[in-house]
Amino acid sequence: MTFDRPDAQQRDDIDPLAPFRQRFIIDEPALIYLDGNSLGRLPIATIDRSSRLIREEWGRRLIRSWNEAGWWDAPQRIGAQIATLIGARPDEVIIADSTSINLFKLAVAALRHQTGRQRLLTDDLNFPSDLYILQGAIELLGKQHELGVMPSPDGVHGADVAAHLDDQTALLTLSHTVFKSGFTYDIATVTAQAHEVGAMVLWDLSHSAGAVAMDLTAAGVDLAVGCTYKYLNGGPGSPAFLYVRRDLQEKLHNPLSGWLGQRSPFDFALDYRPAAGLRRFLTGTPPMAALALIEPGVALLNEAGIAALRGKSVAQTEYLIALWDAWLRPLGVALRSPRQAAQRGSHVTLAHPEGWRINRTLIEQMKVLPDFRAPDNIRFGITPLYTTYTEIYDAMARLRQVIEEKLYERYDPAERPDVT
Ligand SMILES: Cc1ncc(COP(=O)(O)O)c(C=O)c1O
Repeated sequence: MTFDRPDAQQRDDIDPLAPFRQRFIIDEPALIYLDGNSLGRLPIATIDRSSRLIREEWGRRLIRSWNEAGWWDAPQRIGAQIATLIGARPDEVIIADSTSINLFKLAVAALRHQTGRQRLLTDDLNFPSDLYILQGAIELLGKQHELGVMPSPDGVHGADVAAHLDDQTALLTLSHTVFKSGFTYDIATVTAQAHEVGAMVLWDLSHSAGAVAMDLTAAGVDLAVGCTYKYLNGGPGSPAFLYVRRDLQEKLHNPLSGWLGQRSPFDFALDYRPAAGLRRFLTGTPPMAALALIEPGVALLNEAGIAALRGKSVAQTEYLIALWDAWLRPLGVALRSPRQAAQRGSHVTLAHPEGWRINRTLIEQMKVLPDFRAPDNIRFGITPLYTTYTEIYDAMARLRQVIEEKLYERYDPAERPDVT
């Protein structure tokens, strides 16, 4: 493989998704942004949507907008657009609350549904907050369940799930793509293994939705949750989505039963009667200003198509790994993501004992913006709608320079901001 800048530029020239980059705000063209896996860029269309929402719908039409401007139906309407990206049916996805809260609601609902089974199973690559939520759910349910945490063999690859499942497993919950290494489970295989012993499965799709192709319907997935502010470009802290398979919707109960999930909220009856279908998993009033801003970003992903996005993501992560192999491996940088594309999401993690200071140097001096995950991991997020091959080439060339010239030595290892 040739590694020079003209080759990278040529890859961009023939990339059919390249024009999508112009649909985003790129205020600082020299900045190489490789953190769209944490906070996606701002689509230009979102600014128009925001201004219409604030000035017209809120400013002028006021309360009437709940009916007139599609506010009331927005959780389901935008959910249906996300359904296309994750291989679900339109009535199986809804926007509500945060990922953490949705995980709590669905985990509690599943554990209550699976009477007589005591085990809740996850792995040690999962986002730690997901484990905190599960611990809270167990506490709430009277400590009748135990949480099994399957170990990863090497801190990069996922656990051997089949070996840990048994007829006491009520619920298996995993991140589809794990946050640190980017390892990606095979949803169809793992879901089938869980179903074989009668366990339900709840997938956290935060790091895969919008970048990794999947088919929840074909896999018969029970439950899922996910963020909208990463690859879906919904904006900082935008509300999350949840998925419940159609035939389970009427069987499960939302433990946070609130008026938005009530059958007829404006009857103001004193007793809770759950709404039909997925609306029962709503709780309170949706944060409309934030929720509306999810729609333009998701529309861009659907316009590009998830198969094309995944194809480019795989090609770009392969390209990054090839550069690592040629330039960085000899300098003591380790690859902490799977080498096999089918097992990888859309970010690549590289590790070095000076990872924290190297990451800081990239940000402060090199106009490269990845992120850092303790103890020594630097994550490079590839967002196929707007990441270019030239950016990947330049980022790896600058990383090589930072290490070769030890440019990181001027930073104090103890000085860390709140968000890394
Ligand atoms: C995999 C995963 N799950 C859950 C969360 C928590 O999401 P939230 O803080 O929006 O509830 C995150 C946040 O980054 C995440 O990466």
